[in-house]
Amino acid sequence: MIVVNDILKEKGHDFFFIYPQTLTIDALKFMAEKNVGALLVMENNVLCGIFSERDYARKVVLLGKSSVNTPVMDVMTSNLVVVKKETSINECMQLMTRQHVRHLPVLEGEQVVGVVSIGDVVSRIIREQDNMIKQLEDYIYKG
Ligand SMILES: NC(=O)c1ccc[n+]([C@@H]2O[C@H](COP(=O)([O-])OP(=O)(O)OC[C@H]3O[C@@H](n4cnc5c(N)ncnc54)[C@H](O)[C@@H]3O)[C@@H](O)[C@H]2O)c1
Repeated sequence: MIVVNDILKEKGHDFFFIYPQTLTIDALKFMAEKNVGALLVMENNVLCGIFSERDYARKVVLLGKSSVNTPVMDVMTSNLVVVKKETSINECMQLMTRQHVRHLPVLEGEQVVGVVSIGDVVSRIIREQDNMIKQLEDYIYKG
């Protein structure tokens, strides 16, 4: 069974984060610089939210707020969906689908130890399925 830790071993445990007071415009610049769609929001080394492109679109642009004077804490998602290193990738996929989230912070106790995104999970599932198909083809054609 493939678990979150298998993804983290490949992509690394680093995570990009901002602070609740960070202005939305600066968060967006950081997201663009790192080429990611979400940033963790940390306060005193504790995860307190996540700020995503969706938060920006729906809670800033659509509500007519300004990214220049809106701190992330006003528009971040605080109701967090998190996983552990031991969580299976199938469970991640179910969580992402049911809860409508694309990024899952990985926690060990209170501590953040990484982030997995929908792309990480889907590409890993596709790879596993490709391997399975190859094994089955070998079994069928080579006996
Ligand atoms: N080929 C691959 O293995 C692979 C893996 C992930 C994403 N992608 C592609 O990238 C595009 C967008 O990906 P996405 O929708 O999954 O989201 P995304 O653009 O936010 O994520 C891209 C990568 O950055 C990482 N990431 C995102 N936010 C992070 C953060 N705050 N801290 C540390 N790492 C962070 C993700 O885990 C993922 O590996 C898609 O086109 C997807 O297919 C490809």
